[in-house]
Amino acid sequence: MSNLEKGYMKKILRRLKKEGVLKTTQYLVNRPSIRKQQQIAEKEASTWNNHFFEELGADRSTAEHLLEETRKKIPLFDEDIHVKSQKNQSTHLLAFAALKVAGFSPKNILEIGTYLGFTTCFLSHLYPESKIYTAALPSDDPVFDDYHILSGQGVDKVFEQRLARQNITVIKKNSGFLWEENLPDFELIWLDGGHQYPVVAWDHFYSLSKLTNDGWLFSDDIVIPGADGKSEDDPRFDAYHTVEYYSKRLQNKFEYLLKREDAATFMYAKKFVAYVHKRN
Ligand SMILES: C[S@@+](CC[C@H](N)C(=O)[O-])C[C@H]1O[C@@H](n2cnc3c(N)ncnc32)[C@H](O)[C@@H]1O
Repeated sequence: MSNLEKGYMKKILRRLKKEGVLKTTQYLVNRPSIRKQQQIAEKEASTWNNHFFEELGADRSTAEHLLEETRKKIPLFDEDIHVKSQKNQSTHLLAFAALKVAGFSPKNILEIGTYLGFTTCFLSHLYPESKIYTAALPSDDPVFDDYHILSGQGVDKVFEQRLARQNITVIKKNSGFLWEENLPDFELIWLDGGHQYPVVAWDHFYSLSKLTNDGWLFSDDIVIPGADGKSEDDPRFDAYHTVEYYSKRLQNKFEYLLKREDAATFMYAKKFVAYVHKRN
């Protein structure tokens, strides 16, 4: 395990201790049985997503190269989490790059949940011929402050730079009202707004209804109920229940990509990006 990964592991353990899930952080990292589990987790985490690239027929290292080249074009600021986590970044970026490597060429792309415009800007550079629509919470929306912790001139400036691109259209609207807009159907949708009820349910409804045949929908931050003792009703699982609800009734089922491929996150804070490729 690299020093960077050890750093993530310690960070995650500290958070779990703070939340009362663990009593201590020390003995877990040092015990031999845990080291063995770490090795297994490392292997599982690094191979979990292989099926996606194989089914797509996209070479992973070509996609990784494209991802890094595209990433370099995004304006950054110091506090941005994406700057610090290059190693364990979310796999949605790699999945979008892999689609491009496989020859996918979307006409219209929708992102629900702009936040600081990182993925919006990434998609805009990755697919310069596409039109990117992104639904951003208006600053006077009652839930805006729940999500927007970073603020200040630096953040505002970078946010503006990222979005001031010719192929990006920002829709300043709570996603619950996207139906009021006259938007096209989309070949690619990145669903990354509120991850709890009711927002996550209406976002999936809207996205599925606006997905073209042969389109791809990716849904972020899926936590699968497991052995952590949390009730299935815990709001952390709302996105998972929504995805499964639809999956049971859809011809094309959702599948799961591991969101972060490092051992620490795999062991203690596993999350997924669900995706469905719509084919009639
Ligand atoms: C995880 S962040 C999005 C990150 C961004 N998509 C990216 O990949 O860089 C989730 C964002 O969704 C937005 N959001 C939450 N509820 C929303 C809603 N009902 N309508 C629109 N946006 C919403 C908030 O602004 C929040 O910051």
